[in-house]
Parts: sequence; structure tokens; C-alpha cells
Amino acid sequence: MFQDRVLSGMRPTGAMHLGHYHGALKNWVRLQNEYPCYFFAADWHALTTHYEDPGVIEQTVWDMFVDWLCAGIDPTKSTLFIQSRVPQHAELTMLLSFFTPLSWLERVPTYKDLVERHAEHGRDVLTYGFLGYPLMQAADIMIYRANKVPVGEDQVSHIELTREIARRFNHLFGREKGFEEKAEAAIRKMGPKKAKLYRSLRQAFQEQGDEKALAEAQALVNDVQNLSLGDKERLYGYIEGGGRMILAEADALLTETPKLLGLDGQKMSKSYDNAIMLRETPEAVTQKIRKMQTDPARVRRTDPGEPERCPVWNLHQVYSDGNTKDWVLQGCRTAGIGCLECKQPVIDAVNAELKPIRERAQRYEEDPTLVRNIIQDGCEKASDLADETMRDVRAAMGLNYS
Ligand code: TRP
Ligand code: SF4
Repeated sequence: MFQDRVLSGMRPTGAMHLGHYHGALKNWVRLQNEYPCYFFAADWHALTTHYEDPGVIEQTVWDMFVDWLCAGIDPTKSTLFIQSRVPQHAELTMLLSFFTPLSWLERVPTYKDLVERHAEHGRDVLTYGFLGYPLMQAADIMIYRANKVPVGEDQVSHIELTREIARRFNHLFGREKGFEEKAEAAIRKMGPKKAKLYRSLRQAFQEQGDEKALAEAQALVNDVQNLSLGDKERLYGYIEGGGRMILAEADALLTETPKLLGLDGQKMSKSYDNAIMLRETPEAVTQKIRKMQTDPARVRRTDPGEPERCPVWNLHQVYSDGNTKDWVLQGCRTAGIGCLECKQPVIDAVNAELKPIRERAQRYEEDPTLVRNIIQDGCEKASDLADETMRDVRAAMGLNYS
């Protein structure tokens, strides 16, 4: 009923490293060839935890965008924007907050943990805004009626919450007087053959919970040419029972690639000083990898080692083909290869990967207005789309009176 649309965001953390590239950006670059994509800097989300530190937002936002563009996000394919420049996000967050049970937010699995973790860093996040973090995220997604949200494992519970809120919204505000009659009339408008198919798919879903029938019925409604948007919303909602489907239910798109760890085998992070940055020079990359700690058992070149105990092995798992990996396993365990020798294919692979990224960086570094203009355009495009959704949301919530 709504067209496929991808949306994702990141809190602005400044220049990006290889962990961001393999965990998110590479996937975004692929997705932009398959779907309309919207990617944004979640600067308000950053303020939920770093409200005492507003000065860093500006630089971190622009550094992040430059790296997105260098990584291959193409502004002619993807819309790039800043959350706070589309203040409709705030309006939707507030409207959603009226019917979001407090317990749903308190029970988000990451919540209590994060409160403690931030407290350890001297940040008090026992605030209204931080509790509302996932609600604001839900608004980010729903305001574009995005149905596909590429995120990491840690964000899945937020996407589930988004879906629950969309359902509750549609249930509360998608009900209209005479919904059933209007839905039945809309079915007849499809013509006898499609109407019959719709009815049997709806029955299969309602009686047997047949998810395939649900998807087929949704596709059927999508393809009908002569229906108004209102009728499509009704037919969509009618398959599952409820009312009109005004807000879309989003799914997480999980990235399946092996996780890239930092140079010390911990999570890669600039603050742990174990990261390779996207615009790092080939010499710096080479030095960093050559200096990496390896399996401590390999004191001498003749001591055999175990790749499972070595952070270099993680890099091979991300970068090397089967033959190279066999060469490492064998060579390490028999002391057939030295550690520097073992690292070389990884150094070459990382530098080859970063080459086109560094090349793209040049024009953006030379001309900062280029990035400003791309983002300005993106904010306008995002705002137009957000307005479309907000018109429907306001109407459904009884706010478009004269
Ligand atoms: N919470 C996400 C993170 O920490 C960032 C984010 C904010 C986001 N809004 C979003 C991600 C909407 C996807 C969709 O990584
Ligand atoms: Fe690590 Fe490779 Fe050295 Fe083995 S040979 S310890 S896998 S760097």
C-alpha cells in the first residue's frame, strides 16, 4: 500500500571508521540501488545523552556526512538530511506520546542498562527525553512511512516498539464510522475477479494466520489502479481486521556480514583507540595493522599460534577468501608463516577498500559548500514527505478542524 522505503539514521559521532562501514554504510550503499533511501543525522538523539555538550554537534554532523558520501552514499539516489531540520519529527513524537504506555518504554530491553552505563560516565539520563528515545526513533521511521530499517542487532527492540506503536495508532485512529461498509464497497471497486481473490486471501489470513496470504493480499491491493489512497488504506487494514492503515509497520533489515572488531579485538570505537578511520592514509593503515597484537603464544617466529586467540583473524574473516583463510589457519598453527606475513593480505585488502573512499574525499574536503548544499536539498525533500504523513496523522487525530 505504501511503497517500499528505506530509512536509517546515526547519532552524529564525527568521522567514521571501518566498523561503521562494515556494520552499516556498505549495506546502505547497496540498498540505495534497490529502494528509495532516507539517511539522517540523529542530532536530537545525540542530545538525549549529551545535552551538556551541544558544542560538538556541528563538527560531528559534517564529518559524518562527508564520510557517508565518501563511502559511496550517492545523493542522487539517497536523501540525506538532519533530524532537527525537519521539526515535524518532534510533532509526531509528541502526538505518539499521548497513547504510548509508559510501561512500553520502561520495558525496552536496552533502557535500564543504558541508564547505568551513562551514569558510569557521569551522565544523568534519568530524563523524560531519554526514556522517550525509542519513541522519537519510532517517529523518525513512521513520519516517512518507511517499511525497511537497516540497523544492528542492538536496535531491533526499537523497531519492534515502532511496529507496536504503528498498530496502536492505526487501531485507535484508523477506525471510522462505517469502516466495514466502506471496506466492502472498496472491495467491489476492484472488480469481481480481484474481489474474490482478496476475500479468499483475507479469510486464509484471518482463519489460519497465513502470512503468505497476508503478503499476497497486500500486494494485490497495491497493484489495483483505480482505488483512492483512502480505499487502499481501508483494504489494507481490513485484511487484518482493524481499521485503516495510516502509519506503516516497519521491519528491521539486519546486516548479516561478520562483525568487524577493533585492532585489539574489542568493539571498534574511536574512543578505545583501536579504530581504522575511513580517510586514513595507506601508510597509517599499514602501520596500525603491523603493530597489532597477535596471539601471545607466538613469542618467537617458531612458536605455533592459534588464530582464534588473535584479532588479526577477525580481519581475515571479513576480508579474506577461503584459500587465504586456510593458509592462515594452517600457517599459524604450524608456525609455517610469520605474523607480519599473515597481516599483509589484510593490509592490502583494507587499503584497496579505502582507495575509492579516499579519492571521493578530495572534492568534499576542497569544497565544504558541496556537502552543505546536498544536505540542504535533502532536508527539503524529507520535509515535503514528512508533511504528507503529518497531514494524515493530524486529520486522523481530529486536528484538522477549521
Ligand atoms: N538509535 C539509532 C542508533 O543509536 C539511531 C537512530 C535514530 C535510528 N533514529 C533512527 C536508526 C531511526 C534507524 C531509524 O544507532
Ligand atoms: Fe595472528 Fe596470523 Fe600471527 Fe596467527 S599468524 S598469531 S593469526 S597474526
